Amino acid sequence: MSVTVRVPAKVNVQLAVGAARPDGFHDLANVFLAVGLYDEVTVTPADALRVTCAGPDAGQVPLDRTNLVARAAEALAGRYGRTADVHIHINKDIPVAGGMAGGSADGAGALLACDVLWGTQASREELLDICAELGSDVPFSLVGGAALGTGRGEKLRTLEVGGIFHWVFAMASRGLSTPAVFREFDRLTEGLDVPEPVASQPLLDALAKGDPEALAAAVSNDLQPAALSLFPELADTLAAGRAAGALATLVSGSGPTTAFLARDAESAAKVAEALRTSGTCRSVRTTSGPAPGATVTR
Ligand code: C5P
Repeated sequence: MSVTVRVPAKVNVQLAVGAARPDGFHDLANVFLAVGLYDEVTVTPADALRVTCAGPDAGQVPLDRTNLVARAAEALAGRYGRTADVHIHINKDIPVAGGMAGGSADGAGALLACDVLWGTQASREELLDICAELGSDVPFSLVGGAALGTGRGEKLRTLEVGGIFHWVFAMASRGLSTPAVFREFDRLTEGLDVPEPVASQPLLDALAKGDPEALAAAVSNDLQPAALSLFPELADTLAAGRAAGALATLVSGSGPTTAFLARDAESAAKVAEALRTSGTCRSVRTTSGPAPGATVTR
């Protein structure tokens, strides 16, 4: 018997970042929107814990115990006094090291899949606790939809979304390390008074209304200057999307994937085509959000 869970990627429509805390993390006001790019995580009973991965970026995925899927299985097994004797296979479609929470999605997927396979029947709260131990973005991957994350991003409040938003994502030629982008944020803001991060009310209203123009006027990402500083060519990708009629352009999370909000599906297809021929990115995908969180499919 095996269990398969499908988990979505995310884009941060607002990422407000505070000053570094004593523990090195940053307080955030992080508005997550799950979008319809998915990884699939399948767990099957095995003699010992083993991780495999398939997909175009599979070569960049670590298959050892540091992978969040292995850590998720071990965390759940540890709590229930059993061994994590499973083969975990990741079918990877979310870009690796792209700022779209692909690794976090896999962690949430493995956790839910093991819970079902083992019949542990952990409560939602317990699963969310384990997710928060695994990483700041992992709880959101479990719940999906749209949510405001505070603290280091792990304390979630579900948000209402009144419509479907159409997006184009441009994948970059290389990845960016999230800790490196936060370190660059610290360097760029050194000596400055970094305000407390707060969610933008116009942005929350735009989500609730399902209004792409209003959302476009309100999106922001405080990590964008840091990502552009480490990867200046991203400015060319953003400019190409803007010239093609995107309502808003932004770096997704810590990058380097760039995100383009479109008025509708037709406009998204036009922006995607322009980006594909711009020579400023490795590949392009169109999708929409909100998308559901981790879901058992088999
Ligand atoms: O929580 P997660 O393991 O995903 O975070 C990866 C890295 O990103 C952290 O080690 C830290 O350097 C940085 N980070 C941060 N503040 C946050 C979230 C992440 O500084 N709120």
